[in-house]
Amino acid sequence: MEVSSKIYIAGHKGMVGSALVRKLKSEGFSNLVLRSSADLDLTNQQAVKEFFEEEKPDYVFLAAAKVGGIVANSTYPAQFLYENLMIQNNVIHRSYVSGVKKLLFLASSCIYPKLAPQPIKEEYLLTGSLEETNEAYAIAKIAGVKMCEAYNRQYGCDFISVMPTNLYGPNDNYDLETSHVLPALLRKFHEAKIKMLSKTGPGNNVPGHSELVDSELVELWGTGEPRREFLHVDDLANACFHLMQTYQGNTSVNIGTGKDISIKDLAELIKNITGYTGEITWNNSKPDGTPRKLLDVSLIHSLGWEHKIGLEEGIRRVYEEEFLRDGSS
Ligand SMILES: NC(=O)c1ccc[n+]([C@@H]2O[C@H](COP(=O)([O-])OP(=O)(O)OC[C@H]3O[C@@H](n4cnc5c(N)ncnc54)[C@H](OP(=O)(O)O)[C@@H]3O)[C@@H](O)[C@H]2O)c1
Repeated sequence: MEVSSKIYIAGHKGMVGSALVRKLKSEGFSNLVLRSSADLDLTNQQAVKEFFEEEKPDYVFLAAAKVGGIVANSTYPAQFLYENLMIQNNVIHRSYVSGVKKLLFLASSCIYPKLAPQPIKEEYLLTGSLEETNEAYAIAKIAGVKMCEAYNRQYGCDFISVMPTNLYGPNDNYDLETSHVLPALLRKFHEAKIKMLSKTGPGNNVPGHSELVDSELVELWGTGEPRREFLHVDDLANACFHLMQTYQGNTSVNIGTGKDISIKDLAELIKNITGYTGEITWNNSKPDGTPRKLLDVSLIHSLGWEHKIGLEEGIRRVYEEEFLRDGSS
């Protein structure tokens, strides 16, 4: 990509898309094509055709998708399958037809087999059964990865795909019905802290609030045993930019930190960061999901990229930016 290249970031208002826009701007790229879903519904084949004919972008980052956590995935499997297939079919096919020089497709680490050996290598894709709770999403994403490969093989395109681990950062989704685990924990602990602070009367040691009450309880789903890996979305954007500039190939590249943490330890970390002093209770009747998910990141390390933002530093940064900026605590 040259700084004058015309670059379409599909899904630029989302967590990943907005991080890509920040990264590209910080590198001096200003010829960016951006459309919200209200302006361009990527499930609409005709609209996408007309958009590509009119704009003719040189490069495409495909970060538009229907995304969600366990609850959303198990409640809306038809929508996850249909919308994601439509979005990626339209954008990938039209990128080929209009001669896009390179495309990067955002897949996800949750499309690997449920019981894949750990850490997960790129070659483990399609070697076992999927996690039932997000099967529809995974099937759609696997089709996207395979579509990039097929267009490279048959048409000589340069379409790459990446497998990011769980992400967090600015513009994350904090709706408890549809969010992922880390933003959900941040919101639950933050709100529990605020509730505790507001329960007692005036004459307290916290401006605008009262003294802390230790009787609050935060209920979390599952056993807390599963282990997960988390990457700040700014690190992901750096990795995508790096791969767009340097990588060509049919192997979908893992992007992560190579380090995992149990949900229990993550909860303790976030509890400390938010300053919540009450208790945590684990609701074992709720599903845990995949027992462990850690990516093998040796391929991307060998390609010259490593993450820079540590988990505690990243969560502190997000907590300050998303929850404390308006002085809500
Ligand atoms: N979040 C994670 O932890 C994670 C982990 C691994 C991989 N990924 C992948 O990264 C990509 C982006 O995820 P994200 O977390 O940034 O999601 P997000 O915050 O929900 O953003 C998704 C974006 O997709 C756009 N979009 C959805 N449906 C659309 C449609 N029909 N037409 C046009 N645009 C549409 C939305 O646009 P509007 O805002 O304009 O409606 C939204 O900005 C996804 O492919 C996801 O699979 C995410």
